[in-house]
Amino acid sequence: MPDQVINEIREALVLARSQFEYLSDLGIETQTTEFHDGSKNHPCIGTYSALQETLDTIRTDLGDCQRCGLAASRTKLVFGVGNPNARLVLVGEAPGREEDLKGEPFVGEAGQLLDRILLAMGMQREDVYLCNVLKCRPPDNRDPNPDEVATCEPFLVRQLAVIRPQVIVGLGRFAVHSLLKTKTPISRLRGEWQRYQGIPLMPTYHPAYLLRNPEAKRDVWEDMKEVLRMLNAEGGG
Ligand code: URA
Ligand code: URA
Repeated sequence: MPDQVINEIREALVLARSQFEYLSDLGIETQTTEFHDGSKNHPCIGTYSALQETLDTIRTDLGDCQRCGLAASRTKLVFGVGNPNARLVLVGEAPGREEDLKGEPFVGEAGQLLDRILLAMGMQREDVYLCNVLKCRPPDNRDPNPDEVATCEPFLVRQLAVIRPQVIVGLGRFAVHSLLKTKTPISRLRGEWQRYQGIPLMPTYHPAYLLRNPEAKRDVWEDMKEVLRMLNAEGGG
């Protein structure tokens, strides 16, 4: 990694520590056990009523999904990972090669950069929830097809409805365009608060884009500071 980047991360960390220390326990909440036990033991589970749905029921519903053509080429379905009570959800595009092999989102090079961005925000990936618009890898990382999005997006909608985070971050053009149903360039959308189902959504660049365009890291850090401000304004719990 270039020294300049390491210095930027170091600076960001110092800033994060001093200004946002109170956020370090973000997402460690008291209701996890209650929420899960209550839901699991409920006799109505499986009816997908909005009240009883959990991330587990959505995952179960996906099952060994064969709803679109990506099933044939995927290794593992990549559902999502993190804190089911997260105050912050970050949504990416689709699994890449590493994610497809591991069954976990953002574990490749872009994911490692995302981990560092989270760290600079005073967070760990366990504190937030990470998922993608598509749950399966498009071959050769091609852009997702509209029919694949149409088939898969309802599961993302359900994930976000169950978690109901205080803030959503849309990572990159594809996720932001899918979530907001717009074609406005990401360069114009980023940094400005949008709403998704009433939840504040911050569009920003994708970490894979940052790997190719390190100068854009400054913009992403500005966007993440806005996210921290919003989380702070929304309060804990
Ligand atoms: N890029 C994404 O958009 N999502 C991942 O999970 C990995 C890379
Ligand atoms: N283009 C993309 O697809 N994503 C970005 O984050 C930036 C440019």
